[in-house]
Amino acid sequence: MGDELDLLAPGDEAAAGSVAEQPWWQRSAVYQVYPRSFADSDGDGVGDLEGVRQHLDHIASLGAEAVWLSPVFPSPMADFGYDVSDYCDIDPVFGTLEVFDAVVRDAHDRGLRVVLDWVANHTSEEHPWFVESRSSRDNPRRDWYVWADPGPDGGPPNDWTSAFRAVGPAWTLDEHTGQYYLHSFAPQQPDLNWDNPEVERALHDTVRFWLDRGVDGLRLDAIIKVAKDPLLRDTGAAGLPHHEDWETIHDRLARLRQVVDEYPDRMLVGELWARDLPRFVTFLSGTGMHLAHNFELVELPWDSAAYRDFIDRFEAEAASVPGLWPSWFLENHDLPRVASRFGAAELGSRRARGILFLIHLLRGTPFVYQGQELGLPDAVVPPERVVDVDGRDPERAPIPWERPSVAGAGAGFTTGAPWLPLVEDAERLCVAAQEDDPASTLHLTRRIAALRRRSVALSGGSQVTVDAGSEVLAWVREGAGERYLAMVSFAATQRRPSFGPDLPEEGDVVLRTSPEWTAREGAGPSVRLSELLVLEPGEGVLLQLPATG
Ligand code: GLC
Repeated sequence: MGDELDLLAPGDEAAAGSVAEQPWWQRSAVYQVYPRSFADSDGDGVGDLEGVRQHLDHIASLGAEAVWLSPVFPSPMADFGYDVSDYCDIDPVFGTLEVFDAVVRDAHDRGLRVVLDWVANHTSEEHPWFVESRSSRDNPRRDWYVWADPGPDGGPPNDWTSAFRAVGPAWTLDEHTGQYYLHSFAPQQPDLNWDNPEVERALHDTVRFWLDRGVDGLRLDAIIKVAKDPLLRDTGAAGLPHHEDWETIHDRLARLRQVVDEYPDRMLVGELWARDLPRFVTFLSGTGMHLAHNFELVELPWDSAAYRDFIDRFEAEAASVPGLWPSWFLENHDLPRVASRFGAAELGSRRARGILFLIHLLRGTPFVYQGQELGLPDAVVPPERVVDVDGRDPERAPIPWERPSVAGAGAGFTTGAPWLPLVEDAERLCVAAQEDDPASTLHLTRRIAALRRRSVALSGGSQVTVDAGSEVLAWVREGAGERYLAMVSFAATQRRPSFGPDLPEEGDVVLRTSPEWTAREGAGPSVRLSELLVLEPGEGVLLQLPATG
């Protein structure tokens, strides 16, 4: 581990020059912490902010630039924190504002920024605003939420449905006042009425509250839903959606950006299920968000041609937006883990390593979800332990820090009873075991991140995809006099890539993601591209090429 940490020494960056000159949110990974499942410091079985504070060194060791915390605000936890009942405090299960301040201070001491999850489309039904709003039709806060009379048949006012399949209609009848209220997610998460300027102002105040406390950025939860057709017309089978992405969204984001720009060096990253790429990039202009998560990528099959097509189309669209900077992610707290999604056991694990390579070495900011650096698969959650309304428990399994044979069944996550089952095989996959294994996914993640941090070409250089034969995705990065060829095999068996005549004949192996190679120290051999090494399934390989010109 010593040499990896040396690679991350801050002095290196200064020497590299323009890596340090990039905005922090472009330099390297944002690491997502799902606090309930990260580390439990008080034995109640639920992770907390003190647990985060105690493990900041782990996050820093991954070469991450920032920590994004999923919601830690007071919440009845119908959606585990994404139902906020007070935007300006910390839920007791996670700690206090004082502990939060300590997390920010200790993170900053390690050069890590802190990004909070801002849930602005909806509150909890227990938020005082909603309690007032539902109390009577003439309450001054009635119009802070979206209320409508029943449809002609007495049912919901229109055809909008919840994003959670199990919920069905996005409307619930409030018996007391005889109107329906809108909830784009669970009934316990009523949608705020963003058409009311008072609501927008109140939400901007919550942003200032956290930015004043030193928070460096916001992840904008379900942001596309904060603008809807004010006439509440049916979305229907085709055509433009009416339940989200209404034309008012860009002005709303621009005003939010103005608030954030009152502070130096802050960042907005949106959760953005846009309908297509041309629409997606419109959100990343200078007046919108700095970064956004694109969900087209996570819906792609495991197919190198589909990935290449997406990357090429993205870069082509990006060219129309000056300064656009991509983000790359395949895991978060809402999505099955890569190691389970694209295979199981060894194949899944190799592909998870290839994906860590891919998200760090494409042009853009990588987002790493806690446990991804361990190559964790989804956990098996028996029916009696299911707690999420939308089937997302498996990817939210607690992080195994220690060997259960040493630390007990809580694997160093908790001394109590964990709120969700841990992954099987925590004995082999836990942080402690991976620290001891030089071939582990944990060590691989550190090496990839360290390479990126030291190289202007890899962190900020140009990018072009190149032909590499069937089932191999390959791209070239270039900048500051350096040139690299990166490739990932999507084949299920060993595969020899083949390259066209435009590439140089030879390159030096800088890194391979296969465990067999990760264990080795130092740089690899020079290889002729025409006789290139055989790639293992899921394997990523980085070659340094002679610089052009
Ligand atoms: C986002 C979150 C998800 C949550 C939903 C409602 O999609 O990532 O976890 O359930 O918004 O807030």
